[in-house]
Amino acid sequence: MLTITAIPGDGIGTEVLPAAASVLDAAMGLHGHEISWTWVDWGCDHLVATGAMMPADGIQRLSECDAIFLGAVGRPDVPDHESLWGLLIPIRRAFDQYVNLRPVIQFDGVPPRVAMPEDARVDMLIVRENTEGEYSEIGGRYGRGTPREFAVQENVFTRTGIERVARYAFERASERRGHVTSATKSNGIIHTMPFWDEIVADVGRVFPSVGLRSVLIDALAAEMVQRPQSFDVVVASNLFGDILSDLAAATVGSLGLAPSGNIDPERRHPSMFEPVHGSAPDIAGRGIANPVAAIWSGAMMLAHLGHPEVADQVMSAIAASLRSPATRTADLAGTADTATVTQAVISELGAA
Ligand code: NAD
Ligand code: IPM
Ligand code: MN
Repeated sequence: MLTITAIPGDGIGTEVLPAAASVLDAAMGLHGHEISWTWVDWGCDHLVATGAMMPADGIQRLSECDAIFLGAVGRPDVPDHESLWGLLIPIRRAFDQYVNLRPVIQFDGVPPRVAMPEDARVDMLIVRENTEGEYSEIGGRYGRGTPREFAVQENVFTRTGIERVARYAFERASERRGHVTSATKSNGIIHTMPFWDEIVADVGRVFPSVGLRSVLIDALAAEMVQRPQSFDVVVASNLFGDILSDLAAATVGSLGLAPSGNIDPERRHPSMFEPVHGSAPDIAGRGIANPVAAIWSGAMMLAHLGHPEVADQVMSAIAASLRSPATRTADLAGTADTATVTQAVISELGAA
């Protein structure tokens, strides 16, 4: 039996995560498997009630499960750096989940947001570095409240960190269409980005059958809008990968379609699966959030835990539900609410 710790978190996380869990239970049930869920109430309410986003032994408790399923973290009345650095980011780091895997697919029937040739299809895999880079704790504030006040934040790029994420990207590309695009900014960021480029190119030489294109992040952002169908695997530093993944998801419809896996490829620790989107305070509490990103993240989790056939069945059910506006949410020009989409996906599972 799989043991999964579910952290719905805040905002629409508390709506999409139970919805996705019900799909996963139904799909696993069809194959005679069961999931043992542990639901925890960690998040901003927990912070307000106890002073911490999760209990002191939170990481220890998570280390005992097969995988972590997370909704979203963040509430408008709590500073984001406190909420995210109190829950999401510590989990990614404690478990050295160094790959943040973010697939983007254009689904049949869902109108893309950018113009594309009739026969073009977006199918890309963003491999985002997830433990270092621009997201570092090194730095500080000086002279608070004085005219001399300043803030310094040091980027941290390590040879090991770049090599391992690049290797993962090339491996995935070698199983797909054989092309890696690496996001860089070596024209403006003088130390870390040339280092990134050098190491990605070195790793690339180990994969002679995979093509590598290093593209400056500004031009890459434009190309992603103009020709999203041209990308196979995109490898990027922590911040660049973060931004590109929202952009790429928008081209095919909405953030409500974007899943992710925070992966420890060596499987020393549990990996964590979560939608790319946040807690969406603007629509939270209305039951209208798109659950597809969370359901798809759940499918990635099942595949990671050794049930690829169940994951494929969930993906087919998602694709079927997305074909009709009656079983799509409003972010995709549909008329359904969260519960209706969830029920539609569960019914399609049976039909598959
Ligand atoms: P967001 O992703 O929450 O929302 C951006 C926009 O996309 C909003 O208009 C929202 O309504 C829409 N949207 C997002 N998910 C949707 C869904 N499933 N269905 C329909 N529409 C959806 O980003 P934000 O507004 O910048 O951030 C809100 C909060 O979430 C902040 O506190 C932020 O720090 C946090 N955040 C958390 C995570 C995470 O936990 N992994 C990720 C991103 C942002
Ligand atoms: C994401 C989110 C997080 C990130 C934030 C909430 C810290 O935007 O998972 O994409 O930047 O990693
Ligand atoms: Mn993000």
